[in-house]
Amino acid sequence: MNLPPVEPIARPIRQILVVDPEPQIPRLVSLLLGAGYHIDAAPDLDLAIERIHATPHDAILLELVWPDGPDDAGVAALRRLRKAAPELPTVAFTASPGVAQVVAAMRSGAFDVLRKTAAGDELRAALDRAVEHGNLAREVRRLRQEVDRARGLGEIVGESAPMRQLLALCERVAASDATVLILGESGTGKELLARTLHRVGPRADQPFVAFDCSALAPSLLEAELFGHEKGAFTGAGKARRGLFREAHGGTNFLDEIGDIAPQIQNKLLRVLQEREIKPVGGDRFVAVDVRVVAATNKDLKQLVARGEFREDLYWRLAVVPIQVPPLRERKEDIPLLAAHILARRRGAAKHLGQRYPTQISGRAMERLTAYHWPGNIRELENVLSRAAILCDGDRVRADDLDLVGLPGGAADLAGAQALPDGKTLKEAVDDAVRKVEKAAIERALAREAGSPAKAARVLGISRASIYNKIKEYGIAVGEERS
Ligand SMILES: Nc1ncnc2c1ncn2[C@@H]1O[C@H](COP(=O)(O)OP(=O)(O)O)[C@@H](O)[C@H]1O
Ligand SMILES: [Mg+2]
Repeated sequence: MNLPPVEPIARPIRQILVVDPEPQIPRLVSLLLGAGYHIDAAPDLDLAIERIHATPHDAILLELVWPDGPDDAGVAALRRLRKAAPELPTVAFTASPGVAQVVAAMRSGAFDVLRKTAAGDELRAALDRAVEHGNLAREVRRLRQEVDRARGLGEIVGESAPMRQLLALCERVAASDATVLILGESGTGKELLARTLHRVGPRADQPFVAFDCSALAPSLLEAELFGHEKGAFTGAGKARRGLFREAHGGTNFLDEIGDIAPQIQNKLLRVLQEREIKPVGGDRFVAVDVRVVAATNKDLKQLVARGEFREDLYWRLAVVPIQVPPLRERKEDIPLLAAHILARRRGAAKHLGQRYPTQISGRAMERLTAYHWPGNIRELENVLSRAAILCDGDRVRADDLDLVGLPGGAADLAGAQALPDGKTLKEAVDDAVRKVEKAAIERALAREAGSPAKAARVLGISRASIYNKIKEYGIAVGEERS
């Protein structure tokens, strides 16, 4: 007799945990599902959680009605399971699910709700969809982590005293759920800090939603933050959830908070006080669970004093104020930051098969630390990445910094001295050259422990000429250990 060949199962066997107080149900489910599924059983919740932690599962099938429990025992169980294993999808089932039960189960994170009388096909389809969903969720999380690592998020570089204080404070704050207000100039790392607070805090697995409050007009900003109903205003074709609801469970980062208009300030205060929002055009409030981290480069206290920012909102935001120091107040971090920036860019360049400098010359580093960096770390990143492209070889030199227009170079010095009153062009240029020469020799001497011979080599001039110039400019030379 010729039997048709058994179709091979192209995928791994799916591990399903059936959580049901009735002991015969798991066996029935196993029969219904047939090959390709392995059934594990747990007659109560504690055992279910033990099973989840003991072996990997692909999905849970949970009875919604429990004989001795309160009406919502099934939904409560569902929540506990979701909490114990957020990435494990749960399909609920019961003899005859009512509308209220289905809604409650879906709200509590059930992937689907079925009747217990569902046929094998229906059960398989629901479980397969749930398993696929779980796989995708895990994949997304893995990729997100990879992207985070590649971007170097959380790598807050800095060993200066102000940075060490800042990091110690952040460590304590991250673990709490407190609202944080980050203050500091543009480019000091406020957003990086906000992301890091989220990443190391208890909400790390939930969304981080960042938004620049200065980017939109007040009416649009309101809809963006709080969502709107369909047709709430011209152009509002579809209803939108808004950023607060998108960040539900996670962190909402409100950048440039100093720029929000008074009417939005009122609404924001309500979010922070009552933890609820009202979508534009809506008629009821919706609860939101978000941690708020806000940032601004403005002096919020001054805005409060001028009546431009609500004082009560200020205090609600500044539960924990964090001041990020400008780069010029932590110059000792510049070498570390510069190395970090080059290393990160080099990683990306390598990926593309391009060469990238690995070092920064001593003179270039001096220039980097001498500058006052009004644009802070963002400016440092810009200067270095442009210099790295222009430099030839694997070392960024001072000349490369001149090319990208970093102030404080020889050309700049000369420019600043050009043509003072009463001098001919030649006199002015000679003056400027002398100044540059003198400064360069002094710096070289300082670096070479006062040795004119070594300084001459660094500067590419002869010993004779360095001695002449030292005499000419009256440069003091320390003890020479030749
Ligand atoms: N301490 C730091 N260590 C490493 N990179 C930093 C640090 N601070 C800032 N950066 C980088 O500088 C750039 C500007 O930081 P950002 O957080 O956007 O500043 P802000 O929000 O204050 O304007 C980003 O690319 C960020 O990764
Ligand atoms: Mg920013």
